Amino acid sequence: MKIGILTSGGDCPGINATIRGVGKTAINHYGMDVIGILNGFSGLLYKDVIELTDPSLSGILNLGGTILGTAREKTFRKMITSPDEKDHQQIKECYHELGLDGLVCIGGNGTQRTTWMLSKLGLNVIGVPKTIDNDVYGTDITFGFDSAVSIATDAIDRLHSTASSHRRVMVIELMGHHAGWIALHAGMAGGADIILLPELGYRMEAIMCKINKRMELGKAYSIVAVAEGIKIKDSNERPAIYFARKIEEETGFETRETVLGYIQRGGSPTAYDRILGTMLGGHAAKLIHEGKFGRMVAKIDNKITDVSLEDVAGKLRLVSSDTPLVLQGKRMGISFGV
Ligand code: F6P
Repeated sequence: MKIGILTSGGDCPGINATIRGVGKTAINHYGMDVIGILNGFSGLLYKDVIELTDPSLSGILNLGGTILGTAREKTFRKMITSPDEKDHQQIKECYHELGLDGLVCIGGNGTQRTTWMLSKLGLNVIGVPKTIDNDVYGTDITFGFDSAVSIATDAIDRLHSTASSHRRVMVIELMGHHAGWIALHAGMAGGADIILLPELGYRMEAIMCKINKRMELGKAYSIVAVAEGIKIKDSNERPAIYFARKIEEETGFETRETVLGYIQRGGSPTAYDRILGTMLGGHAAKLIHEGKFGRMVAKIDNKITDVSLEDVAGKLRLVSSDTPLVLQGKRMGISFGV
């Protein structure tokens, strides 16, 4: 049996641990041949591949990024969604010319959608959820999230130094395009006073009220954690810049902004993400061995399992006002700006 592995969408810590988990299980436990498809789905079209052997999968567990390269895949997705039969034929031909019996696609929401489309074309595919944003529907957690939260928490810890020494408001913008999971978890772990999430929106009065109240209580500084995806009503500025400007204008307190950016996605994965990627990767190899395709591997209620790609493709896992960590934050007096 011969399988391919590809990685698509934004990089995140834990991808290499997952490639290693799929590859070493497939080679050593199931006796499969494994190839790595380079630079996402486009590598499938160009048949840009490398052989993956047990030795070539060694020494990558703790590496950030992806040894296979990755890409955002708008062109490829258009080829699948287009009604043009020629495109579909080309994709199928490439898959068969590579001699594949199965294909493991590691990626976020967009990738799971594309993988489901490939499944509908009749290819033997398995999706593995990956993103720092933790917004893939159908799994309780994605690898990359724990690493990103730990980096973001460290950043908030460090901002406390300047905030308290200078009696400033510090606004930190964290990644999370649609979902505010990183801002929520890092904000709570780092002791932010105000946490602003795309899912919950904001009221400027609530934010100002919280900052003024803290000052009245003798807390001469505040930390605001904001997710990048929050929709701002009256400006095109980045959230960190916008909220820092507004807070200084309206409260008169000296305010500074930080955009943490790609630092959150880079570097070595935490032990948690390495284990999660290892377990999900192993499960993906097992599904291929059993001939169970069209599935996405997942961690649900602390168990490694799988769900139908059809059920999860195109959906997002979002924070809500009932999310336990939001409720606990509110009980502790943390403001969610609403
Ligand atoms: O999906 C992960 C993520 O890091 C988002 O939080 C962010 O909005 C996006 O990727 C940015 O990705 P890129 O600039 O690589 O397209």
